[in-house]
Amino acid sequence: MGRVLDAVIVAAGMGTRMLPVSGYVAKEMLPLVDVPVMHHLILEARAAGCNRIHIITSPAKDFSSLLENSNTQFPSFSNDESLLNPIGDAEYFVHYQHEQLGLAHAISMASSSISGPFLVLLGDNILTSNHAALSSFEPSTVSKELVSMHQETGSACGSVYDVGYDAVHQYGIVSLDGDRVQSIVEKPNKEVAPSTLAFCGRYIFTEDFPMLLDQYSTEEHGELQSIAILEHWMNEGNLHAHVLDSTVSWYDSGMPFVWLTSQIDHALRRPEYGDQLTAWLRQRLNQS
Ligand code: UTP
Repeated sequence: MGRVLDAVIVAAGMGTRMLPVSGYVAKEMLPLVDVPVMHHLILEARAAGCNRIHIITSPAKDFSSLLENSNTQFPSFSNDESLLNPIGDAEYFVHYQHEQLGLAHAISMASSSISGPFLVLLGDNILTSNHAALSSFEPSTVSKELVSMHQETGSACGSVYDVGYDAVHQYGIVSLDGDRVQSIVEKPNKEVAPSTLAFCGRYIFTEDFPMLLDQYSTEEHGELQSIAILEHWMNEGNLHAHVLDSTVSWYDSGMPFVWLTSQIDHALRRPEYGDQLTAWLRQRLNQS
């Protein structure tokens, strides 16, 4: 079984729900208080053992400040150097997706540069239990745990998160037998949802992915191509789910209200800001 050395961060979407800001700044570069989403993802992928980072983008988006930051010196910044230069000594690759035809199509832009199994991260989703002060920043361990699951099972894997019945209609929902995925239902009504566990933006795809792109084409499956490929692995008994527990926070920079609550939730947990923000919110709410 090949080691997982490549990570693919998909960040080519149009971000229409985050307009107008996404017309100027990629939603994947928005800061969670003070650390851009992309920094969280690159450092998470590197903590999972990936030293080849693939960024899928579109010609309309610009990640050059992230990638060129490597040589910039900020003498007054006393925190971990990796926060200014998350790529560090890893190799990086930029791939362009010219038509936004969905997740599998975006990933396929990198597939000719990858030979083994690889990690996939949705570029606007942070999953983390770490809310330490900036001076003690720790990347999320979610991808590392997923890589371990792949090493134990040899199969494709996806992280899943309990979103509760009221939110199932927004996600790909799975039913499980142990940790094996038994069914996937895309955006079900709560009456027919097989569970409340949703795929949440972290996957290990296996080396047969390029071959499956031909078998489950975008022409036939459209944006659901990635679900058709996940179902292929599932039907072979080769799709495992890593269930995240409630210590993990799921933050999404793709929707204004969700991103607003993400910022507040994280700031309330950060030692530098929690007490001050709580006091400010109490005072502010008493005024209304
Ligand atoms: P989303 O569907 O949430 O992003 O994809 P979007 O298409 O940018 O959103 P809206 O609907 O226009 O607001 C989740 C992640 O997958 C990437 C996005 O950039 C985002 O980080 N993505 C999505 C691609 O790279 N290519 C695609 O074709 C679609």
